[in-house]
Amino acid sequence: MENRKDCKANQKTYYITTPIYYPSGKLHIGHSYTTVAADVMARYKRLQGYDVMFLTGTDEHGQKIERIAKEEGVSPKEYVDKIVDGIKELWKLMKITNDKFIRTTDEEHVAAVQKIFKKLYDNGDIYKSEYEGWYCTPCESFWTETQLKDGKCPDCGRDVELTKEESYFFRLSKYQDRLIKYYEENPDFIQPVSRKNEMINNFIKPGLEDLCVSRTSFSWGVPVTFDEKHVVYVWIDALSNYITALGYLSDNDENFKRYWPADVHLVGKEIVRFHTIIWPCMLMALGLPLPKQVYGHGWLILEGGKMSKSKGNVVDPVVLVEKYGLDAIRYFLLREVPFGSDGVFSNEALIQRINSDLANDLGNLVSRTAAMIRKYFDGIIPEDRQKEDIDDDLVKTVEGTADSVEKLLDQLQFSTALQEIWKSISRTNKYIDETTPWILARDEKNKPRLAQVLYNLTESIRIISILIQPFMPETPQKIWEQFGISEDLRIWESAKTWGLYKSIKSVQEREPLFPRIDLEKELADLEKMNAGKNEKNINIPGILPQIGIDDFAKLDLRVAKVISCEKVEKSAKLLKLQLDIGIETRQVVSGIAKYYTPEELVGKKVIMIANLKPAKLMGIESQGMILAACHENELVLATVDGDIPAGSRIS
Ligand code: ME8
Repeated sequence: MENRKDCKANQKTYYITTPIYYPSGKLHIGHSYTTVAADVMARYKRLQGYDVMFLTGTDEHGQKIERIAKEEGVSPKEYVDKIVDGIKELWKLMKITNDKFIRTTDEEHVAAVQKIFKKLYDNGDIYKSEYEGWYCTPCESFWTETQLKDGKCPDCGRDVELTKEESYFFRLSKYQDRLIKYYEENPDFIQPVSRKNEMINNFIKPGLEDLCVSRTSFSWGVPVTFDEKHVVYVWIDALSNYITALGYLSDNDENFKRYWPADVHLVGKEIVRFHTIIWPCMLMALGLPLPKQVYGHGWLILEGGKMSKSKGNVVDPVVLVEKYGLDAIRYFLLREVPFGSDGVFSNEALIQRINSDLANDLGNLVSRTAAMIRKYFDGIIPEDRQKEDIDDDLVKTVEGTADSVEKLLDQLQFSTALQEIWKSISRTNKYIDETTPWILARDEKNKPRLAQVLYNLTESIRIISILIQPFMPETPQKIWEQFGISEDLRIWESAKTWGLYKSIKSVQEREPLFPRIDLEKELADLEKMNAGKNEKNINIPGILPQIGIDDFAKLDLRVAKVISCEKVEKSAKLLKLQLDIGIETRQVVSGIAKYYTPEELVGKKVIMIANLKPAKLMGIESQGMILAACHENELVLATVDGDIPAGSRIS
C-alpha cells in the first residue's frame, strides 16, 4: 500500500479541463469536439504513464438558464437536472474518460465559490458600486457601449439588454500590468498565438476595466454570503470550477495540491477572453499559480453559420455515433480540421473520410493481412523468415511514427498526429503492392520470404493499433484480439520498437473494422431523417399548468389590421404599429423588427390582445400586444386566414 502511494507521489501529473457546458439544450457535435479532444489528451498522457486528472462538467447558474426554465414552466434545478443527465449519458456513449464531473450546483462547489468571493472581498479586490451598461444573456457577458458591434453583442451578434443595478466589482484593472508580464514570460500560455494577439489588441491595450461580478436582478446563482440579494456573476462561479473541483478551500484539498496548476484548459475561441484575462487575474488575486496553457480551438461550422440544430445536417452526436460508430466520429472530429482553425462540418465529408481513411486505408490493411495469414499459413506465421533490403524503409517509417505523434500531440496538433499515423498505414499498404505476397505464395520455396512479409505487415498493424488508442477506444481492442497481440505488446512504449511481436500464432479473420458506406444512398437517408425531425422538432417547450375556460375568457383577442408601421428610433428590436380594431385605432409597440420590415406588415391582419393594460416601451405607449409564434431564433406573427373584418373577436 505504502509502495503504491510512493509510486503515485513520484508520478508526473497532467491536469486537463474542458469548459463546463451550459445545460441550455441538447448538446450537438460541436460540444463533443472539445470533450473528445480533451479525452484524447487524457488517454494519451495516461498511456505515457502520467497521473491524469481530466475534468469536465456543467455550468448551471445564470440568467440564461433561469429564463429557459421559466419558459418551460419548471424550476431551474428541475430543468438542469434533466439536461445534465443527458450530457452525462452522452459522455458515456462517447467513452469520455473524465476523472471528475463537476456541476456548479454541487454543494461543495457553491460553498467554495462563496469562500472565494469572500476572500477576494476581504482582500479588497472586490468592492460595491453600481453597474450601468449592456448585457448579453446568451453569452452571459457584460459589454460597454463602444465594444458593441452595430448595437449587438460582438461575440454572438444577438441583442443586448441595457442593465442598471447595484453590483460588486472585481479590480481587474489592478492586474493589467502583471497579466501582460505573465503573457510575455510565458509565450505558450495562450495557444494558438493568434489568439494572444487578439486578446492584447482587443481587450488589454484599450485598458482593462473593473468587472461587474454580482447580479441582483435574478436569483439563480450562488448567493453572496455577506449580501444575500446578490448572486455571484456566472462566469466567476464557472471559472472557479477548475479549482473547486480539486477541493480548493475545502476540508480535503489533496487533489488541489497535487494537480494545480492545470497543464491545459481547452476552450472554444469565443471564451478565450474569460480564460486568459478574467481567470488569471482572479488567480493572481487569490495568490495562486496560473494555468500553464489555455488552448482556444476553432469552431465546427455548418455552411451558413455556427452550428445549430435547425439547419440541414445531422449534428446530433447520439445519432451520428449510432449510425457510424464511435471511433469513426472521434476520428473525423479530430482529423478533418486543424485544431486551432474553424472548419465546416458536413455529413458528406464525414462519410467520405470513413470510406477513404477508415474503410480503405486502415480497414483494408487489417482485413487483407489477416486473410493472407489465414490463407497461406493457417493463422500462424512460421519462424523461418527471410528479410530483404526493401523492408528497411517500411521499418524505419513505422518505427519513427510514435516520436512524431508524441511531439504533435504535446502541441495538441491532433490532425497532423493522425496524418503521421496514416502515413504509416499508407506506407504499409504500399509495401503490400511492392512485395506482392499473392505472387510469392505461388512457389513453395518463397515461403520464408512470404512469412517475413506477413510478419512485417502484422508488426506494422501492431504499432499502428497502439498509436490510434487515444483517438479510438474500440478499434485497437478488436485488432489485438484478431491478431492475438498480448498485453505487454500493446503498451505505448512498445510502439517505438519494431520486432517485439516475435511469434505470431493465432490470427483470425473477422468482419471488416469499418464497412464502406454508399454515399449517395446515405445522404438521401439523412435528408429524409432530417425532414422528419424538423417537423417533430425536439426543442419544443413543455405545456404550462392548466387554466379554466374562465381564465381564457378574460382575454379579449381581436383581429387587427395593420394600417401603418415604422421603426422605433434607437432601437434595433422595436416596431411601432397603428392597428385598426374595428371600433378604434390602437398603437402597439412590438419587438419584431428583426423579423419583419414595416413595409411587409402594412395590410396584414394579425391577432392582438385588446384588453392588456397599456405599457411604455422606450417611452412609447403600447396599447395592447400582437401575437407571434417563436421557436429558438425564429418568429412568425399569428395572422388570420380568410376574409373577416378587423375587430372580429377570436374565441
Ligand atoms: O461557453 N464548434 O458553455 P457552452 C466547436 N459555460 N466548439 C463549440 C461549438 C462548435 N460548433 N459549439 C460550442 C460555455 N462549442 C460556458 C463555459 S467554462 C468555465 C464556462 C464549444 O456550453 C464552445 O466553444 O456555450 C465552448 O468551448 C464549449 O463548447 C462550451 O460551450
